[in-house]
Amino acid sequence: MAFDIPLTVVGSINADITATTERLPGAGETVGGGRLTRSPGGKGANQAAAGARLGAATRMVGAVGADAEGETMRQALRSAGVDLAHVATVDSETGTALIMVDAAGENQIAVCEGANAHVSISGVEFDEHDTVLAQLEISLDTVAQAARRCRGYFALNAAPAMPLPTELIERADLIIVNETEYELIPELADAALVAVTYGSKGSAMLVRGEQVAFADAVRTTPVNTVGAGDAFCAALVIALRGGLSHEEALRAANAVGAAVVRDPAAQPELRPLEHYVS
Ligand code: RIB
Repeated sequence: MAFDIPLTVVGSINADITATTERLPGAGETVGGGRLTRSPGGKGANQAAAGARLGAATRMVGAVGADAEGETMRQALRSAGVDLAHVATVDSETGTALIMVDAAGENQIAVCEGANAHVSISGVEFDEHDTVLAQLEISLDTVAQAARRCRGYFALNAAPAMPLPTELIERADLIIVNETEYELIPELADAALVAVTYGSKGSAMLVRGEQVAFADAVRTTPVNTVGAGDAFCAALVIALRGGLSHEEALRAANAVGAAVVRDPAAQPELRPLEHYVS
């Protein structure tokens, strides 16, 4: 199997600021004893970093601000091996995610989009060999344009969940969501191919709402689940485009997701995808 496919990730780049506490605060509550970390994140950047580390020839279309965080985010993607020719520096602060993680690895996230509101695909060339992977932390218009301009395989991670134009659902070769997002976007029952993740239970592939494949999750003790879904998306797309069956691809993507939840970072080191195929 060849997993060194050309992959274009169109999406967000965030500086993640994370407070790890024993438990998550409720509304209006303050929880002390937190540990603070700053790390590279953003659904798009996490997917691009994972894609490159898993072996795809990955380029990122995104935007950062002309600030120190922007340079740190660029450096993180560069060190993962991502081509940054289409990452713009714009007149806005770098996107930021404020994250709280509890002792069991559960999280809550608030995102300030900043530069991500200015992501543009103008000047980006797409050809028929391209695999494009987008998410919904940038403007829906830009995602729809990418879907229209993509001449190859178009995959959408429909996160965070929002109503999707019919045109986008019909164009997507694959849509990836978690079980909550699947509930929140009922139109997905009509989509040609949807992958749904069920956390510690596993993941499934649905054709027009009917399950056609399932793979159990890899049992593991989570440290931090942030970024695991993103690595799952990159792995699944590369596995399918590399020729694996639905079930084999789900198994490989589950194994990659498990490797990420064992790591505190949203963009951890990963081995080439072959290593996760069983
Ligand atoms: O999917 C995880 C990502 O979502 C985090 O890295 C954070 O930046 C938010 O965008």
